[in-house]
Amino acid sequence: MAVIGLGVVGRRMIEQVALHRGWRIASAYDADPAVRAAIQKDHPSCPVVDSVAAAIHHPSAHLVYVAVPPLFHQELVVQAIAAGRAVLCEKPLGIDVAQSQQLAQAMNDSGLPQAVNFVFSSSAAVDRLAQGLQAPDFGLRSIEIRLHFKEWPRDWQRGAAWLTQADQGGFVREVLSHFIYLLMRLRGPLRLCSAQVVSPTPGAAEVSAQALLDSAGIPVSVSGVVGGSGPDVVEARFVGASQAYVLSDWYHLTHHDAQHPQGQKVQGLPEVPRVATYQRQLDQLLSLLKAQPHSLASFDTALAVQVLVEALLAQRRISDF
Ligand SMILES: NC(=O)c1ccc[n+]([C@@H]2O[C@H](COP(=O)([O-])OP(=O)(O)OC[C@H]3O[C@@H](n4cnc5c(N)ncnc54)[C@H](O)[C@@H]3O)[C@@H](O)[C@H]2O)c1
Repeated sequence: MAVIGLGVVGRRMIEQVALHRGWRIASAYDADPAVRAAIQKDHPSCPVVDSVAAAIHHPSAHLVYVAVPPLFHQELVVQAIAAGRAVLCEKPLGIDVAQSQQLAQAMNDSGLPQAVNFVFSSSAAVDRLAQGLQAPDFGLRSIEIRLHFKEWPRDWQRGAAWLTQADQGGFVREVLSHFIYLLMRLRGPLRLCSAQVVSPTPGAAEVSAQALLDSAGIPVSVSGVVGGSGPDVVEARFVGASQAYVLSDWYHLTHHDAQHPQGQKVQGLPEVPRVATYQRQLDQLLSLLKAQPHSLASFDTALAVQVLVEALLAQRRISDF
């Protein structure tokens, strides 16, 4: 794998590849020399190179992982396609819908293996949730997505100034997009009914996003807010006729019914879920390269997520509350 972009997720990938038997890093590149030096110091065996071309054209690089901020996904994916490399692109696919349509078309036309990195593609908790929702007695009535961040960006992404800007950052693209992907994966197309998004100043990322979506006739309410005290909340509730599932903090799933209104942990999920999920994602990526069935999102799927996300963000207004 060639890794382009060695920030939060690029580093994470380097660490996860080191734990996986089927993958190794062929080349790693970041536009910032200080970031390259830091990676070389922390991971002395990581093959850091000093240009995009050297990373993409490395003879052992069968797949290019594009892990840079969204505004630069397109130019790097185009270079990977030109070099005949498979692509794993970070989400969101892009910001400009017309540009992403062209990019998805170019990716499809190339015939090269392609995927976009949504964490819910390879999640054991999501597999169990999907089974639970399909049970004939579940009777789904509503879905609620709740996001609360005491500060944005979160402490572990504080160095990423782009996340504070409306052009490519904000929690709607960064976090809500994963849940939109999840709902599309579990239930098919989603429709935006109404939305209100608030940024404090022009050009700043949102501090509030409220929306109502339609998921095949089931209402989906979205409430996302930045500010105030913790704890942070990243949660989707699937409310049935007499039971519910709550997916929280990405990997945790609880089941609620009359006997257990506070919920019971769904058993049999991984003890260290983040590592397990990453490793499953890398397994899926190998299947993709071997032209075997896999669960990863295609560019077309990521484009559908982006279209909805950008429609929601188009409802942005400026207010200081
Ligand atoms: N899938 C997930 O769960 C998940 C989680 C967090 C972030 N992301 C996504 O991953 C991407 C990167 O996020 P991050 O948090 O790592 O950001 P980051 O700011 O921590 O790191 C991005 C790095 O890319 C480098 N860079 C910028 N432009 C470049 C270019 N043209 N060529 C080479 N390097 C370049 C920067 O110097 C920086 O080191 C974003 O699209 C983000 O939305 C995905």
